[in-house]
Amino acid sequence: MESWIVETRGLKKYYQLGDHTVKALDGVDFCVREQEFVAIIGKSGSGKSTLLHMIGGLDVPTGGEVYVDGKNLGKMNKEQLAVFRRRKAGFVFQSYNLVPDLNVYENVVLPIELDGRRIDKPFVDEILDLLQLDGKREALPGTLSGGQQQRTAIARAIAAKPAIILADELTGNLDTATSHDVMGLLKIVAREFQQTIILITHDNDVAQMADRIVHIEDGLIVKERDTYAGK
Ligand SMILES: Nc1ncnc2c1ncn2[C@@H]1O[C@H](COP(=O)(O)OP(=O)(O)O)[C@@H](O)[C@H]1O
Ligand SMILES: [Mg+2]
Repeated sequence: MESWIVETRGLKKYYQLGDHTVKALDGVDFCVREQEFVAIIGKSGSGKSTLLHMIGGLDVPTGGEVYVDGKNLGKMNKEQLAVFRRRKAGFVFQSYNLVPDLNVYENVVLPIELDGRRIDKPFVDEILDLLQLDGKREALPGTLSGGQQQRTAIARAIAAKPAIILADELTGNLDTATSHDVMGLLKIVAREFQQTIILITHDNDVAQMADRIVHIEDGLIVKERDTYAGK
């Protein structure tokens, strides 16, 4: 039997707006293998972010289940979910949410410190190196380019050693060349550290870097295919 790191079964998220029901997700069965890199594409409003939020335990479904590493998120209490989010899932959103008063290194290790864990300095150094931020360790976010800020946010997500990286339109604010560089680096770093990536993107070239592309339409997976990169 195949072992999945992420599995959703009949996942639904309905919003009731007056007498109108918005079916953000309408019965999604979605599986991701350990260390797989999956790209999710689909029109605005098709349910991509909702799916990512459910997998990361940021939001609660109205139907169906989410399993991560064999654990049913719906069976976790608030505390267990908070620990799950801190340790298993690394989020990278379009807004970088870097702390302006902390330098690059301090931003990257902040979640580890908040979680009360020991910082694996050689590991953090390696990530900064791979993401080409080693010369910017002392720099404050305000002095960085968009690409450097984005790479800092990626470094922060990876440094906490999550099993899964969840990225929502992460290159949306960057020019095409920079976003392709950032994606290439994310892929290399995730491979190196055996992390799984689930990434939402509008950019077909970025999607082609993934092992598999999943198309979402109106809250449903309508098409899936392996890419050449995934073969
Ligand atoms: N809090 C909410 N209340 C009502 N409708 C919502 C809410 N969040 C998302 N939706 C709706 O759910 C659908 C899917 O949204 P979303 O997952 O954000 O789409 P995508 O990320 O693909 O653009 C959209 O129709 C959106 O308007
Ligand atoms: Mg979205």
